[in-house]
Amino acid sequence: MKNKGLNILMMLLISSITVFGQSPKAKKPTPQYKDPLDRKVDSVLAKMNLDEKIGQLTLFTSDWDVTGPTIRKGYADDIRSGKCGNIFNAHTADYNRKLQEIAMKETRMKIPLLFGYDVIHGYKTIFPIPLGEAASWDMTAIERSARIAAEEASAAGLHWTFAPMLDISRDPRWGRCTEGSGEDVYLGSLIGAARTRGFQGKIGSTSSVVACAKHFAAYGAAQAGRDYHTVDLSDVSLWETYLPPFKACVDAGALTFMTSFNEINGVPSTANKPLLTDILRKKWGFKGFIVTDYTSINEMVNHGNVADEKEAGEKSINAGVDMDLQGAVYYNYLKKSLAEGKVSQLTVDNAVRRVLKLKFQLGLFDNPYKFSDTEREKRVVFSKENREAARDMARKSIVLLKNDNMTLPLSKNKTIAVVGPLADSKIDLIGSWSGAGDGNACVSLLEGIKKAAPSATIMHAQGCDLENNFPSMNQPKLSMDGFAEAIRITKQADVVVVAVGERGWMTGEAACRADITLPGVQKDLILELVKTGKPVVVVLLNGRPLAIPEVADKATAIVEAWFPGTEGGNAVADVLFGDYNPSGKLPMTFPRSVGQVPLFYCEKNTGRPFDANNKYTSKYMDMANTPQYPFGFGLSYTTFSYENLSADKPMFGFNDKITVSFTLKNTGNRDGEEIAQLYVRDLVGSITRPLKELKRFQKVLLKAGESKVISFTLTTDDLAFYHPNLEKKAEAGDFDIMVGGSSDAVKTVRVTLK
Ligand code: NOJ
Repeated sequence: MKNKGLNILMMLLISSITVFGQSPKAKKPTPQYKDPLDRKVDSVLAKMNLDEKIGQLTLFTSDWDVTGPTIRKGYADDIRSGKCGNIFNAHTADYNRKLQEIAMKETRMKIPLLFGYDVIHGYKTIFPIPLGEAASWDMTAIERSARIAAEEASAAGLHWTFAPMLDISRDPRWGRCTEGSGEDVYLGSLIGAARTRGFQGKIGSTSSVVACAKHFAAYGAAQAGRDYHTVDLSDVSLWETYLPPFKACVDAGALTFMTSFNEINGVPSTANKPLLTDILRKKWGFKGFIVTDYTSINEMVNHGNVADEKEAGEKSINAGVDMDLQGAVYYNYLKKSLAEGKVSQLTVDNAVRRVLKLKFQLGLFDNPYKFSDTEREKRVVFSKENREAARDMARKSIVLLKNDNMTLPLSKNKTIAVVGPLADSKIDLIGSWSGAGDGNACVSLLEGIKKAAPSATIMHAQGCDLENNFPSMNQPKLSMDGFAEAIRITKQADVVVVAVGERGWMTGEAACRADITLPGVQKDLILELVKTGKPVVVVLLNGRPLAIPEVADKATAIVEAWFPGTEGGNAVADVLFGDYNPSGKLPMTFPRSVGQVPLFYCEKNTGRPFDANNKYTSKYMDMANTPQYPFGFGLSYTTFSYENLSADKPMFGFNDKITVSFTLKNTGNRDGEEIAQLYVRDLVGSITRPLKELKRFQKVLLKAGESKVISFTLTTDDLAFYHPNLEKKAEAGDFDIMVGGSSDAVKTVRVTLK
């Protein structure tokens, strides 16, 4: 009651100020527009009724039929009445033109529709999963991959992709780690920016696809690695680990953001005003619009921070969410909320302004059909050049984890047994979130091997099956009946290549696994093949780090190929036969066991660091602390040495720079590329600092025997960190600067910041 009284008093005061401050007849001041597009936006806005405004804040899916997209009658009517201004999941130039025609010919306002789609790692030509691409550490290749995806998607009538996914993830149980860039903030930020640039290209051109930085924020920190689960973390962690990739995308020009499903410290992201308005818009200067992740407004009722969907909608729009994806909350309740004064007209108008502005930026008001060009679609989508680029990206993504006795590369004149449930699979190679990708158009590993080595004798046996659908996971063991044939052909061969891993659907959204070992009886198959005494080359096709301790121990060679995309079989064969010398490095730690998770390289030292001779130190009784394969690790068919590490000065000031240099030498007898990494440790901080943080890297091509001096320059900003008051600054003191070819194999030089 007290509050109500106060509110009325405030309203009287405000209205009296308005009455006394301005004569009722005074003309409204003409707004000054810095950007001419804003004037255009306002001239459209001025003519819109409330239903049409809410329509611009509404995004509905088209229905997807087996024969292609067909829009549900209800949605077509919503477009017609102006109550739905944006559509996702509809694609192909022809089909989207038909939908656009409804908006342009049958609506009162003739505002073009915006078409969105999850183009995550390719539209039709599917590139490796994002986690795989991240293993290339190659920003040029990653940007190119996103550019090609955008060229194909835009030719198929699309304006907007729900990518890049920027969620730092340190938990391989979480199925969505497949869609991100792994565990590291620096690498993840560079990749996010590269993807944003790649998708968007030149905004306004016919091949530009608007990026959507998602999922804002900290979705990858879900407790227990379970999708959609609670996130509870300190402000310092949020700022230091989870926010930087998003900031990098704002700086790279990302024009839209998507909220995440999770709550952070009790507040669902979709209602998180400090996050969406204070940080994203005000602090970072983001000018685009914010969309929900699917029904994340509605889901607040389950979260328990609102009583009903109407209140959820009010909280969302007041927090800064402009567009409701599929939830129909704005559609159903926003009018009422406005009438009740729970949401202001200005809030709605500003949200509509942002959506209209994007449509103007894309040039849709001038030519709503500019992305619906069937000729271009035929020419661009799935072109030979795009497939070639996908093959190149896939090769760059492959990480060689083990290679005893230089078993790899294989000779092309040998007898090779190709075994495993994924050896002849096509559909699995494109992984999850594979857009309009067609599994049948994929090159399987078996096909790739046969093509690459026509003079080899190739024998094939599946060996065992792999679960085919979700309910069967972890059910009673699959049959081992196929082992006998696999063993028989292996005995006749010089070497066996075993393709194992996960099915595409085993990673991605809602695809978490509490057990991250090889599913089914695949490990048993490998161990049986090892008993033949023949070299066993394991090719892993998977979307997350797996725990494979026995395989790591017993297999002769291991090639991590991720889900490599449409050209996967060719790319893996290029590596197996040495037509391409692998250079990928892990973007995410491979644990020995799920029990070590979360396990990541930039951990803290603790007060009782590991000491094998002291029980009361930080360790497990039944397992090492160390990972199976650390972040940054990956072998080549050649070897590299890091020598003569030095800093240009032992001490430097706050406005100074420091340059460290070292000699990188190719010590083997093949040309090869090395990803040289630089890590930093702040030895004493006012709050504790990680043991290592990646700050620079460079991919260097060296001929056999060649060496090069590599230099990295750091500023104090590279040494700065967030303090509890969220100020980011460096502190004076000693720093270890480490360089090497993996996070666990480094050489160190100590410098002092004064
Ligand atoms: C839900 C997913 O979390 C999000 O990543 C995706 O973009 C939307 N669905 C739309 O498909």
